[in-house]
Amino acid sequence: MLGGTVRGKTTRLRLPTLDDLPQVDRWAADMRVRRGGPMGRIGEPCASSTWKERFNDVVKDKDCVLWLIEADSAAVGLAKIRFSGAPAADAVDIQQFLIDPGHWHKGHGFDAALTLHRWIFDIVHLRCVNIELPVDQLSALRIAEKLGYERFAHGHEAFYRDSAYVDQYRMRMTLRTWDERWGAEHREYPAPLGPELEA
Ligand SMILES: CC(C)(COP(=O)(O)OP(=O)(O)OC[C@H]1O[C@@H](n2cnc3c(N)ncnc32)[C@H](O)[C@@H]1OP(=O)(O)O)[C@@H](O)C(=O)NCCC(=O)NCCS
Repeated sequence: MLGGTVRGKTTRLRLPTLDDLPQVDRWAADMRVRRGGPMGRIGEPCASSTWKERFNDVVKDKDCVLWLIEADSAAVGLAKIRFSGAPAADAVDIQQFLIDPGHWHKGHGFDAALTLHRWIFDIVHLRCVNIELPVDQLSALRIAEKLGYERFAHGHEAFYRDSAYVDQYRMRMTLRTWDERWGAEHREYPAPLGPELEA
């Protein structure tokens, strides 16, 4: 599926368009993005027509949701999640999440991540979200830590990169953490079951 519009403070999650495809291809080829591990690898670089085909496949896949991340009217990144245990899924894995290196360190990564988690926890009301990150991906780990992720597994030598193996963390964030840390300020809708049943 393609996700609809979700607004953050400096970023907006929106539908991808044909005009975005050359940019997406550049991200696929950018080694600074790819070294972010699985979340930075959106596929191998290819012709725009092939990206169109790939996105059409995502449209037909009811277990995935894909957004382009926009800031100041420019496409600055991409996010894709997969429902874990569909069709009765109450958890998601973030499969891909990246910001264009030309826009790093402006706060877009955190703002878009917070916006994505508002969709996951507040709008769709899922229970849990999982990620996998290389242990040396410090900006991504910082975003996860600020959101409230907890580490639950350490994989050894999980990725081969820069002529060496690198470990990975598996991390999880729950609806309870969202509500405690972000629920008051970032909730868009009242808790569906009432606050007392959400605990
Ligand atoms: C991870 C990524 C999304 C961050 O994007 P970004 O727009 O630069 O992120 P932000 O500007 O919001 O910065 C996030 C935090 O990381 C911190 N940070 C940035 N570089 C850092 C570094 N080298 N060491 C420690 N912290 C760092 C920032 O200071 C910020 O923390 P703060 O808010 O406490 O100041 C981007 O680097 C990326 O796309 N990487 C490749 C793909 C990837 O790793 N995906 C996984 C994403 S979770």
